[in-house]
Amino acid sequence: MNSVVVTQPLPPQLLAPLARYCDLQVLATDESLTPALLADARGLICLLTDRVDRALLDRAPGLDFVSSVSVGVDHVDVAALTERGIPLGHTPGVLVDTTADLAFALLLAAARRLGEADRFVRDGQWTPDERWTPSFFLGKDVSNATLGIVGLGAIGQAVARRAAGFDMQVLGWTPSGREIPGVESLPLDDLLARSDFVSVHVALTGDTRNLVSAERIAAMKPGAILVNTARGGIVDEEALARALDEEHIYAAGLDVYDREPLAADSPLLRHPRVVFAPHIGSATTRTRARMVELAVANAAAALAGARMPHCANPAVYG
Ligand code: DGY
Repeated sequence: MNSVVVTQPLPPQLLAPLARYCDLQVLATDESLTPALLADARGLICLLTDRVDRALLDRAPGLDFVSSVSVGVDHVDVAALTERGIPLGHTPGVLVDTTADLAFALLLAAARRLGEADRFVRDGQWTPDERWTPSFFLGKDVSNATLGIVGLGAIGQAVARRAAGFDMQVLGWTPSGREIPGVESLPLDDLLARSDFVSVHVALTGDTRNLVSAERIAAMKPGAILVNTARGGIVDEEALARALDEEHIYAAGLDVYDREPLAADSPLLRHPRVVFAPHIGSATTRTRARMVELAVANAAAALAGARMPHCANPAVYG
């Protein structure tokens, strides 16, 4: 039993280092991960779209490791893996700047109404009767505004560095209470009350699910803009849609959703001031290659009986 299941085609040249140690079973794009596929597998290389839960693990008796091509591991039952002594690899670090860039792009696009403006031009609405006037397409200033960063890990800090270039005042809150130079740390509710922009950068865990709840959205500064490039379950989407309806929240920039793909009947879709992206925070050619390289390095270490370089449940190593 020396086979490793890879749940999507990944660049063969990046998988090549593994081929020396195991038989790779690479699923086709339209194939899904099923328990039967893992019945004889020693390892699994998966994506954030694969659900790795107890039921699956119970039917994978020979599984020695899981390596996810993602930094977030909320799609995996980490506790169930740890109980079984199975290391879980993930890919921190390499997607920090790419994801921070997208968060800032969404922040700017939401503030300056770029989604609406793009549709306006494409749809032929820019006419001699509808053109530049002093009140045409007004948005919000980003420079010198206050940005609240929820989660001061590597991506949150990278967003703070970008904000400094826009002369923003940067507030931060993080579950660990960590202090970052140039960022004023304060309790989450105070951050929400003071911020013109709020950008979410915590991992989705039992503690952060619904962190930006209906009550917290209601307590945000009137006219604020919310950006989420972390995970959908952290923000109450229904409450966000209501706050947009009531014009308590001015706009939002969203890359992640509680259910992905976003349901066609999501109340968020009716809001012209929501700028949507389809979970593309890490989607650049270079970053995706680096993520696969790390996932392969994690798998190679596990196959060699060594410690994974980036393990999300290091408790398995004692
Ligand atoms: C991750 O790796 O968790 C990111 O969400 C991918 O964009």
